[in-house]
Amino acid sequence: MEKEEKEIVVPEFYRDLSEDPEKKGLWHYVFRSDDGRKPIRTPDGKPHKLPFQWKDMFPNENGHIEVEIGSGKGTFMIEYAQKHPDYFIMGSEWDYTWAAFAHTRMESRKVLDNAAMLRGDVFYFLRDAVKDNTVDAFHMYFPDPWPKERHHKNRLLRPDFLAEVARVLKPGKRIFYWGTDHKEYNEIALETFDAFPGCKVVERNTAEPTEGISTGFERKYKKEGRPIYRSVIEFEK
Ligand SMILES: C[S@@+](CC[C@H](N)C(=O)[O-])C[C@H]1O[C@@H](n2cnc3c(N)ncnc32)[C@H](O)[C@@H]1O
Repeated sequence: MEKEEKEIVVPEFYRDLSEDPEKKGLWHYVFRSDDGRKPIRTPDGKPHKLPFQWKDMFPNENGHIEVEIGSGKGTFMIEYAQKHPDYFIMGSEWDYTWAAFAHTRMESRKVLDNAAMLRGDVFYFLRDAVKDNTVDAFHMYFPDPWPKERHHKNRLLRPDFLAEVARVLKPGKRIFYWGTDHKEYNEIALETFDAFPGCKVVERNTAEPTEGISTGFERKYKKEGRPIYRSVIEFEK
């Protein structure tokens, strides 16, 4: 007899977004917890939507918003924000130590007028907080490759992630910059882009660092002589 497949129900939780009272430009997106510090589930099992607008994060924003997924120490976004004072760029990092470190560098490099750091899981932030058609470009460089097969499910470049990216990108040709040193994750990612409606890989493994700015991990990997795969993807909708 065939084994009956059990439906896996992923619980949904409340998450709250707030700017750090002591560190302007550092935003926390974290579980709302009960007194025992357990995350509180939503009553209907549906995602909790937040009344967020980019103006809340960037009071002077001019409509040009870019998002970096997994910024690490913030090396790329700081240099990019310095180069483009007219772009408003949100970095993201779920690890508190890295997020705080990147934020301190952002402060000392004086980019906090047009850059901010989100500490939290950026997938849920996109899904729960970001309105449709509000983002101009995404940058995703050297995401955690989760090399073991049983951990592949943790990889962020998945169809449900791309669905959120496509929803929040503005209509017209909008760009996603991608880079990794991991051959197998790169192949799967490019297959995922190829299969996603409206997605077109316009530079396949031949792109240079975006505007010549290498990321922190990239600088290290280049020194080690690892191959680097960079691509540029357009979303048409
Ligand atoms: C390998 S590092 C690369 C950092 C940077 N992009 C670079 O190239 O130097 C990937 C980073 O993404 C962060 N990260 C992974 N998944 C994330 C998620 N869902 N939301 C926010 N940050 C995430 C990790 O904590 C890690 O610091």
